[in-house]
Amino acid sequence: MGAVTASSLEFIVSAQELIVRIEELGNQFAAAIEPLTDEQEIRNLQAQYMGRKGQVSQLMKQMGKVPAQDRRTVGEVFNRVKEGITDAVAARLDALEEAAQAADLARTVDVSLPGRRPRPGHLHLLTQVHEEFRAIFSELGFELAEGPQIETDFHCFEALAIPKGHPARDMQDTFYIDDDVVLRTHTSSVQIRTMQSQPPPVKIISPGVVYRRDDDPTHSPMFTQLEGLMVDEGVRFSDLHGVLRHLVRRFFGEALEIRFRPSYFPFVEPGAEVDMQCSFCKGGDPSCRLCKGTGWLEIGGSGMVDPDVFGHVGYDAERWTGFAFGMGMERMAMLRHGVNDIKLYYEGDMRFLRQF
Ligand code: DAH
Repeated sequence: MGAVTASSLEFIVSAQELIVRIEELGNQFAAAIEPLTDEQEIRNLQAQYMGRKGQVSQLMKQMGKVPAQDRRTVGEVFNRVKEGITDAVAARLDALEEAAQAADLARTVDVSLPGRRPRPGHLHLLTQVHEEFRAIFSELGFELAEGPQIETDFHCFEALAIPKGHPARDMQDTFYIDDDVVLRTHTSSVQIRTMQSQPPPVKIISPGVVYRRDDDPTHSPMFTQLEGLMVDEGVRFSDLHGVLRHLVRRFFGEALEIRFRPSYFPFVEPGAEVDMQCSFCKGGDPSCRLCKGTGWLEIGGSGMVDPDVFGHVGYDAERWTGFAFGMGMERMAMLRHGVNDIKLYYEGDMRFLRQF
């Protein structure tokens, strides 16, 4: 053999060393296949070792670094280990088949067989979204507030400056329990309960279920809203913009813009509908099915708390200002995941639920 130079040394693997590693791989395989009782798992394991990119093939690449006169010996060890793996797979699959046939023949319950592995469950998409919102707002210093789903007319409407005769109180939309008690139609009622129970400053979000007499692919008689309220000295419209923009960017994970469109809600002045830049086409596709080519998606209502509302809860409207907003959580999840029917959230169909 020619002289070995320092730089070529590192490319040389001794036959002994490689043989040890091959044998190790063989032993490792034998240990790994032992507990497997599922054909697919066994096939996967086999591929991990014997596949084109498998561990055995990886190791075989080292062959070229073994001194030429030793390659034959090493090759034999390779072949032996490979055969061992192939035989072990065959034996294991045979045994499985035999066991299955025996079980079939016996046709009795064999209590000693391993049980079916339960599929691990996970949180419902809406619960996940709910928790994300909580986390995003808690980073901004918002606390969680809750209120009852069966609500008084006062908290749901009157104190929110929704006078009798307002369309939002129409029997079409509201489930009345009696003249004074309703199923809340929005989480805005929690604004009132929170302000009644504590002096300003207030910084809360209130996620929760609401009810309306509405039923089509994008509306359900029961759905989930998220309300936000911030009251302090000097709270401005630009604070509302900053908070909602931050929310959209965190939730969608992209630098999307938001915009306000003037709108009317009795309990805010000025009031605005909130749109976000289309998360699918970013406004660049005139035929986008999600935003219908407008480039914007409506996500909720908002505005500056009307002094009238402060009057109902005994806050000094000269001193305090605040913003409020409300949005549908199903809609936010729909926009992020392309869900096209709100009923999918509630039907419990595993084919849907498993995707998230
Ligand atoms: N409560 C309204 C609804 O259910 C949404 C809403 C609009 C909430 C404006 C707000 C707001 O807090 O400021 O349609």
